[in-house]
Amino acid sequence: MPESTRSLALTVNGATVAVTPGTTVAAAVLMAGAAARISVSGEPRVPLCGMGICFECRVSINGAPHQRSCQILCQPGMQVLTAAAESCALAANRRTS
Ligand code: FES
Repeated sequence: MPESTRSLALTVNGATVAVTPGTTVAAAVLMAGAAARISVSGEPRVPLCGMGICFECRVSINGAPHQRSCQILCQPGMQVLTAAAESCALAANRRTS
């Protein structure tokens, strides 16, 4: 089977995303409809440069924080958590406590 027709699955903020091998984590995050992080003024931020310079694409991968998702290829079973999701969870916790 040609490599381009195979897919692998990972999770982004708990949602399963299927991608073709060679897809960056940044692309998978965008496919999941997630922002990478939230700015200090509350605006969603997404990958900007795509080449490891701007750091706008930082996410946690398998528990390791601040990974530049544009520089990392998706692997089967990878667990990606965006800072945007973490910010929402923290805000929700503050509202309920
Ligand atoms: S998009 Fe700029 S460092 Fe990843």
